[in-house]
Amino acid sequence: MALITNVSDYEELAEQKLPKMVYDFYAGGAEDQWTLKENKGAFSKILVRPRVLIDVSHIDMSTSILGYKISMPIMVAPTALHKLAHQEGEVASAQAAAAAGTIMTLSSWSSCSIEEVSSSAPGLRFFQLSVFKDRDIVQQLVRRAENAGYKAIAVTVDAPRLGRREADVRNRFTLPENVVLKCFEGLDLSKMDKTKGSGLAAYATSQIDSSLSWKDIKWLQTITGLPILVKGVITAEDARIAIECGVAGIIVSNHGGRQLDYLPATISCLEEVVREVKGRRVPVFLDGGIRRGTDVFKALALGASGVFIGRPVLFALAVDGRAGVRNALRMLRDELEITMALSGCSSLKDITRDRVITESDMIR
Ligand code: FNR
Repeated sequence: MALITNVSDYEELAEQKLPKMVYDFYAGGAEDQWTLKENKGAFSKILVRPRVLIDVSHIDMSTSILGYKISMPIMVAPTALHKLAHQEGEVASAQAAAAAGTIMTLSSWSSCSIEEVSSSAPGLRFFQLSVFKDRDIVQQLVRRAENAGYKAIAVTVDAPRLGRREADVRNRFTLPENVVLKCFEGLDLSKMDKTKGSGLAAYATSQIDSSLSWKDIKWLQTITGLPILVKGVITAEDARIAIECGVAGIIVSNHGGRQLDYLPATISCLEEVVREVKGRRVPVFLDGGIRRGTDVFKALALGASGVFIGRPVLFALAVDGRAGVRNALRMLRDELEITMALSGCSSLKDITRDRVITESDMIR
């Protein structure tokens, strides 16, 4: 195998290895895929402002998320159907995240069950909740996540309907027989309609509750003691309402460019949300386009308490299973470490706003 030196190498190898239908499902974005590209591209317009002659012989990347200590501010985002990448699926990803000392978020669209993943390894996990029309099912999923020791519920709020991912339509994306949506298993929900352009889109659209609103976020707080994070807020207005609703955290996300196209890159929305939340003691996280330790650094400098990565985990899993995911997390960690060292930051609190220059700084 070619020497892998960064997480993007996994994407190239995964493209060679995976069936086209699966690669496109993982890699693709909505419609023109503008936001998909912009998520990555916007990072390249932010530059680092290093300080020198600071003792960086010891670098501490550890942090505390919702009171849980983790080794680094890089966590695993919820992504659907890991078994399409590797037969061990989310179990392998969760084991790799646990070995890296960080948090894995399990998707409501996972191919391993909530319980299988929790019993596969120690480690901290969050559960990503898609709110389905049948609230009994929602309640059951939340209860199962609680009982299985998950530490938070990340409610996805940017997907009242599934975005138009044209590659999935062209490929007539459907699940192979051996891969099952485990959260739906035994719940007597109708099977995916394989006659539609994208079977998954049709299925999801039939199950997802597009009437989801802030009152449901309040309702969720009444059915669980777990902290609730909202995943998919990108404006100050929504950040303010989220705070008023008492959420425990905000994940600035545009779903990896898979929902509404022509949204700004998440890194371009981060400061707006951070400014709104400031002083409220509610952490703001970011996902979307993180492929380098420098990207993590930039997000932290602009106020994120941590970041989540999506596709790099899937591609590393496809190429080399658990070891691949472990390696991807290690490479990002190492890149963050060297970025900190070379910019004069020995701990995360040193990564302050003045360590980066954005386009708006240059205009001023
Ligand atoms: C996702 N994402 C996602 N989000 C979510 O809330 N529930 C889900 O089930 C999924 N599923 C999913 C599948 C695939 C194949 C991808 C690529 C993404 C979105 C994910 O949590 C995250 O927001 C993005 O992946 C972050 O962007 P990057 O790191 O992939 O660029």
